Formats: sequence, C-alpha cells, structure tokens
Amino acid sequence: MNREIKRIAVLTSGGDAPGMNAAIRAVVRSCAYHNLECVGVFRGLQGLIEGDFKEMGPRSVKNIINRGGTLLKSARSTEFRTKEGRKKAFDNLQKAEIDALVVIGGDGTFTGASVFNGEFDYPIVGIPGTIDNDINGTDYTIGYDTALNTVVEAIDKIRDTANSHNRLFLVEVMGRDAGDIALNAGIGAGAEEILIPEQDLGKERLIASLKRSKKSGKSSSIVVVSEGDQIGKNIFGLADYISENMDGYEVKVTVLGHIQRGGSPSCYDRVLASRLGVGAVDALIEGYRDIMIGIANNKIVRVPFSEAIKGDNKIDLDLIRVADITSL
Ligand code: F6P
Repeated sequence: MNREIKRIAVLTSGGDAPGMNAAIRAVVRSCAYHNLECVGVFRGLQGLIEGDFKEMGPRSVKNIINRGGTLLKSARSTEFRTKEGRKKAFDNLQKAEIDALVVIGGDGTFTGASVFNGEFDYPIVGIPGTIDNDINGTDYTIGYDTALNTVVEAIDKIRDTANSHNRLFLVEVMGRDAGDIALNAGIGAGAEEILIPEQDLGKERLIASLKRSKKSGKSSSIVVVSEGDQIGKNIFGLADYISENMDGYEVKVTVLGHIQRGGSPSCYDRVLASRLGVGAVDALIEGYRDIMIGIANNKIVRVPFSEAIKGDNKIDLDLIRVADITSL
C-alpha cells in the first residue's frame, strides 16, 4: 500500500514511560504542521481493536510536555497477539479512514506492529518508549534518562541510611531483561556491586567482593540488582544468602518498583521525544513503514522493526569495567 497519507493515528502501548506525552504532542503537532489529520487511540493496541479513537489537534496536547504517564493511556494487549484481534484493529482503522499509524512503545509493541504491517501492508512507524532502553538501533529510548535520575535520587537517599547504620542495601531496579538501568544508575549512584541479567557472576563471587571491600575499610554498601538478574532473581533470598555468609553487616532490601516509571520527564527525554515524534511523521510522509525512528550518535535514524527487536540486549563492557574500577 503506497497511497498518500492524509490521516495518521497515534497510540502508546506497553509500560508507560516519562516522555510519552511529549512524543504524542510532537506527533499531533507535526501532523498539524503538515496539514494532516491526527487521531489519538486510547489504551494502545487494545484501543485499536475496540475502536477507541479521538480526533486530536494542536490544542489537545497543550500542557502535557512536562507530564509523566500518557494522556492516551496504555495497555498490554493479549488480543492483539491473535489474528482475529488484529483483523478487528485493521477494520477499525479502515472504517475511520486512517492511513497510517505511529506506535510509541517497546519491543512487544514493535513486534505486534511489525506482524500487523506484514499481514495488512499497513504503514506503521514506531517510536521507542520504555524506561528499559532495551531496543536495538537506538542509543536511547524515551523515559530511560528520567528513570535513571529517579533511581539515582532514590539511592542517594538510601545511602544516607546505609552509611548511618553500617548496613548493606540491596536495591532492586526495573529492567525485565535488560541491565541498562542497573548498570548506569549503579555507576551514577556509586554502587558497590551491580547485578545484571546479561552477566551472571555467581553468589560466591559477590560474597568474596563484599568481604574484600569491608576489609578495605567500607562500613556500608549498596548493591544494585536488576529485576531480571539471575542470581538476584529473588532479591529477598539473595539478602538471606548474604546474611548467612557474611558477618558485620545488617542486610536490607529496597524494591524501587513503579516509582521508576513515573514523574515529570527530564529535559533530555522531552527533547528526545519531540525529535522522534517529528521524525516519525516525516518518515510516514516520505513513504517509510515497518520501521522505528531512533537516535544514534545524536542523529535521527530509521531502523527496520526487525532490527530493533532482534536478539539480546547488548551491554557496554566498558561500563562494567568503569563500575569495577570506581567501586574499589
Ligand atoms: O518494560 C518496562 C517495565 O517497566 C519493565 O522494566 C518491568 O519489568 C515491566 O515494565 C513491569 O511491567 P508492569 O508494570 O506491566 O508489571
């Protein structure tokens, strides 16, 4: 299908991320700039199936650039994983005379979008919006920078208590299959150890390292544990293991949870979201489809969905080295 695009729909899907509103705003206003109609779809891919649509113009997105969450709401749709669900979504798009779609979300959203594109030859462009930063082909995803700042701020506070009471804190951060938040926030917050799903170094090594640093004069420690980490899979079990195998520290657990997904987006996320939103509409007008708009070396790039969602998350080994050196 390569017909002229006159009407574009936008949705947010999967876990919300700070900056999604800024991306919606950029898409809506970009449509207005190019004299295209814009339709908001509520509750992500599920809203497509249910035809939950609303016309949007530049004023419908006023005062949202600074707001976390997503004005359009979000959902994880299991129905969109079925052929019948996707057919309903396609019929609704046809009925509403929508020519193309911008989806803002993570790998689950892009996977669904790409299947949909393949089945119906329907123009879709994706914008990476997830705090996990686990999408290939883009240096950053919307929400990641804000989440990092939230985590660092929280760990700074935990450090005060850790230090006052000679405690060892295990802090669990989000990132289902990706250690990006743990690794970067861990370095930024000066963590002693960082446990990530991409690297399983074992419990014994962790104990040996904690004992070494205690011997070197440290009176408190912070260990950042990614929720997807294998040895920290059950962070409370890990805390028990440390308590049983190490003297001299009281071990405490803090699970940061969904506070990492909320809050006002950082300036970086607002600018990134604005650039990606404008880039998505540009790409659709130029006839691109089945791609994600990303950022690489501070330039907007167009990456096939198949590249964006393929394979395992890659971790920068240099960062692991920096974490090791600076935690001495
Ligand atoms: O994908 C983003 C993410 O925040 C992950 O880091 C986390 O594992 C997951 O979403 C939690 O999802 P939910 O809020 O749906 O339980």
